[in-house]
Amino acid sequence: MDTPDSSNDDTACIRTQVEQSGQREHAVPMYLTSSFTFNDSEQARALFADEEEGNIYSRFTNPNVEEFEEKICALEELPEGLGTASGMAAVFTTFAALLGTGDEVLSSRYIFGSTHKLFTQVFPKWGISHTYGDLNNLEEWDDLVTDDTKLVYVETPSNPTVDLIDLEWMGEFCDRHDLIYIVDNCFASPALQKPARYGADLVIHSATKYIDGQGRGVGGVVVGTEEYMEPIQSFARHSGPALSPFNAWMFSKSLETLDVRMKKHSDSALAIARHLEERDDVKIVRYPFLESHPQYDLAQKQMSGGGGVLSFAVEGGIERGADFLDALEMCSLTANLGDSRTIATHPASTTHSKLSEEERRGIGILPGLVRVSVGLEAPEDIAADLDQALERSA
Ligand SMILES: Cc1ncc(COP(=O)(O)O)c(C=O)c1O
Repeated sequence: MDTPDSSNDDTACIRTQVEQSGQREHAVPMYLTSSFTFNDSEQARALFADEEEGNIYSRFTNPNVEEFEEKICALEELPEGLGTASGMAAVFTTFAALLGTGDEVLSSRYIFGSTHKLFTQVFPKWGISHTYGDLNNLEEWDDLVTDDTKLVYVETPSNPTVDLIDLEWMGEFCDRHDLIYIVDNCFASPALQKPARYGADLVIHSATKYIDGQGRGVGGVVVGTEEYMEPIQSFARHSGPALSPFNAWMFSKSLETLDVRMKKHSDSALAIARHLEERDDVKIVRYPFLESHPQYDLAQKQMSGGGGVLSFAVEGGIERGADFLDALEMCSLTANLGDSRTIATHPASTTHSKLSEEERRGIGILPGLVRVSVGLEAPEDIAADLDQALERSA
């Protein structure tokens, strides 16, 4: 791998690259191969015995995947990485590699729905339990730790209410109780937030979101310290959640523009959040860098930009929320976020419809809450579409 002689994130993202082949290509080729040939039987033996480094089979290693992993390692300031077929494959592989029967996970309550399903429906089959801690009540977290607690899992900012977790507080908490500290950093992306600076042992991403940034491919990645990545990489080698070289190539190229994209997502989302706050027909606007966000100071401390996701509540409950979405003309209605195209979602009637209204309120999802993943279009065009939809659905 050619790595730049610089610790700068942008340089690492742009210049880390698989060595040039004999063709003198500028962009890295795609290594669309299942396996790699051995020069002779002795090399085959040495590679399998870990006496020589090199590619054997694309379920374990592939140059495109390795390049992508190295870039995320540089961005997240952690030494080892594993690209996976989806964000959920990264989450599952991490837990499956590190947990065993009798272990308990301590997690924040505000987590992605499929992660919640793993905790409640999959892991209990193997005798792995979980406890949820309330973000607004950090004093109670010490009492939630038991002799079986092995790791802490948090997402910040959370989906869809963009609540934050104090990463530094959580790092000290994990140190105090000797727990593995895992952060899903998907909403902020490594351009805006670096959990390892606050002690995170492992950081997970759905690359499907801002890392790709253009809604083209599904993938994931986990990066961390050698101590925890070694069992994760070994589990992955034998269980097979491998990232495809094609998607790795695409994500790796996308990382070259991550920093500029995240700056524009953040600037536009802040401008739109401020605009929505001025409207009388919008009840609550939540965005980490909005002065009215209850954790504004924390956002300023641990994030270098507010990210692309904001949420707001319209008057009129579930029906008005759904009508608002139907009235949008430019923004897309689709089950994703972190795209260059603005996406609007109504959690109460879609992503969180399986929860009761009481359960939804418990995690801050009001009936009229709308989540917007602010894209890279001109912010005034996005605001104009939201305005006209608010007016037409009133
Ligand atoms: C915070 C978060 N984590 C993990 C995932 C799962 O990622 P994927 O859809 O790539 O499996 C998502 C997907 O929306 C997410 O929002």
